[in-house]
Amino acid sequence: MRKPFIAGNWKMNMDSQSSVELIEALAEGLDKIDREKVDVAVIPPFVYLAAAVKAARSSSVAVGAQDMYFEPKGAFTGEISSYMLKDIGCTYVLCGHSERRHVIGESDELINKKISAAISGGLLPIFCVGELLEERESGKMTAVVERQIRAGFAGLNAAKAAAVTVAYEPVWAIGTGKTATPEQAQEVHSFIRKILAEIYDETLANQMRIQYGGSVKADNAEQIMAKEDIDGLLVGGASLKPAEFLGIIKGSIK
Ligand code: PGA
Repeated sequence: MRKPFIAGNWKMNMDSQSSVELIEALAEGLDKIDREKVDVAVIPPFVYLAAAVKAARSSSVAVGAQDMYFEPKGAFTGEISSYMLKDIGCTYVLCGHSERRHVIGESDELINKKISAAISGGLLPIFCVGELLEERESGKMTAVVERQIRAGFAGLNAAKAAAVTVAYEPVWAIGTGKTATPEQAQEVHSFIRKILAEIYDETLANQMRIQYGGSVKADNAEQIMAKEDIDGLLVGGASLKPAEFLGIIKGSIK
């Protein structure tokens, strides 16, 4: 049985005060939820991470970063390494979020280096994949997702791969209010699990968690999570409101 894993990606939102208030409200709400039944993480902007770790300390909320660079240290102005994130108490890091792929221009190769370096630095990567609307409409969806998955896991042995959570986020569903139907998401999740079984084996593929992301809200979380291969949710906009995010978490407990 894979434990549900719900993560809130704050993107470039919040400020120092509202970050702490949001985590405190989540921690309080989570006190009433069985910690054994769900893993929860928040993913604030870099500058609020240290305060987020402090605010989350005595709660079951883990903290992750939205990105990192693959080199451990050195002359890379503006970048942040996995060791630095680990040093301040982060548990997770997003790798290859669609906004980094399509707005910033990150390649499959760069994302693969980040995933590998994240694991070496002691972090748990949340590796995002997903097709654009035109790729889905032109029948290229599975080819795109397969390419992203194979490139992301390239060179990772089974022990390293086990540290990764995959997040399937169809780009057309992110921030658009247009959620994939539970059936559409399930189809791609089971396809991803099949590719993982081909790369590794069925045992590992069946242990790995695959999140869905894209316009998840409290009123659609339960339906999406009811699908067999959907093990968690990566939530953007709806993770900024404590009541909404807590509603998503509650709806995700299987
Ligand atoms: P959204 O974002 O929930 O606002 O659609 C999801 C994501 O980008 O992770």
